Amino acid sequence: MKKPFFRFLIPFKCLSFLIILPTCYPISAPVTRLESKLSSLTRELLDSAREPEFFDWLKRVRRKIHEYPELAFEEYNTSEIIRSELQSLGIEYIWPIAKTGVVGSIGSGMEPWFGLRADMDALPIQELVEWEYKSKNNGKMHACGHDAHVTMLLGAAKLLQRGKDELKGTVKLVFQPAEEGGAGAYHMLKEGALDKFQAIFGLHVEPEMPVGSIASRPGTMAAGSARFFAVIKGKGGHAARPQDTRDPVLAASFAILALQQLISRETDPLEARVLSLGFVEAGQAGNVIPETVKFGGTIRSLTTEGLSYLQQRIKEVVENQAAVLQCTASVDFMEETMRPYPATVNDEAMYEHVKQVGEVLLGESNVQVMPAIMGSEDFSFYAQKMKAAFFTIGVQNKNEKSVKRLHTPYFLLDEEVLPVGAALHAAVAISYLDTTVVETH
Ligand SMILES: *[C@@H]1O[C@H](CO)[C@@H](O)[C@H](O)[C@H]1NC(C)=O
Repeated sequence: MKKPFFRFLIPFKCLSFLIILPTCYPISAPVTRLESKLSSLTRELLDSAREPEFFDWLKRVRRKIHEYPELAFEEYNTSEIIRSELQSLGIEYIWPIAKTGVVGSIGSGMEPWFGLRADMDALPIQELVEWEYKSKNNGKMHACGHDAHVTMLLGAAKLLQRGKDELKGTVKLVFQPAEEGGAGAYHMLKEGALDKFQAIFGLHVEPEMPVGSIASRPGTMAAGSARFFAVIKGKGGHAARPQDTRDPVLAASFAILALQQLISRETDPLEARVLSLGFVEAGQAGNVIPETVKFGGTIRSLTTEGLSYLQQRIKEVVENQAAVLQCTASVDFMEETMRPYPATVNDEAMYEHVKQVGEVLLGESNVQVMPAIMGSEDFSFYAQKMKAAFFTIGVQNKNEKSVKRLHTPYFLLDEEVLPVGAALHAAVAISYLDTTVVETH
């Protein structure tokens, strides 16, 4: 058969009952039969993605992207690699969106439109892993695994394109720029690229989990975050004559200590928030009181409201502490250049859907409920606009003695994840479209 692994699609739509009413179903023959349909879907997708030729292609694509990492909004070559792969798969796409973004489209073009998302940008880190495909762009590295995110989505595209005629709607492939601080997702939305989407799914690699496992949680799964940059201005002068100066160093010291009390005294202890300062810049000499002090940091909160509260109070605290020492202050949240990210909130039904598909694909014990994290993700912008689920996927290399963490020069992933992620993306999309057709009839 031309498309052997899509033969299950017609009976498979009955699965909506399983997904909508998981607890109402007795363990009985019909469930077993329905589960076996999902099981054949996922198995055939995974088997296809693991075929040597398919897997080799995945590795080639990932290594090419890994060798030439590009930073936020500069992903020109990466975008070109994506477009040329889509082209050779016969998949239509639109670009440029938000400078380098690409949105591919598979299926009839009819609604529902279901999105699968990958981010393309690398980090300003010098790779220290010695291997054949080490980064050739000095000071830049795919240390957050976005090279694998892109590759897994291209893998899904190849799987989905083979069965495009059987899709019950349209799968949209979202390749976005600038996840690392640039709010690429916000810009993709702003340009209207996701206007008609009904739902979206995304994956992030996780080196602390083994290949073949995924994790997430219903509701809030990652924090919202924002940066702040403060300047306290005083009056500089000779350090031996403090009475002639207005000391911004002292004012900044008071302000920095007072900021720590926003978490310890003004935050519900059961609510997670973080306020950390990353830099302080004052004068250069030990005997000169400088004119200004600059400092800045990041704030995190599991609620978007918590983030707004901290922003408002940081401004008040810094301005008022400066006033105590007869200095003036300004606080900038850089909302255009370092746009704050909202908290990432998974839609409960979408979370359940991915969990069920994951359990059949990988086995129940390999789908974990994880605690919420204080890291943040610009996938949150999509989740504010449509039903969304974001999962982490294990990439731990079992031959390595220690975990090679994200955002370090030693980050390392096991490429065995590539077919797993490709199959998961494809299975989540196919089964979502199938079950959605049943719901609307
Ligand atoms: C982009 O591709 C060109 C042509 O292959 C290459 O010369 C250049 O170094 C690449 N740029 C980056 C940033 O990877």
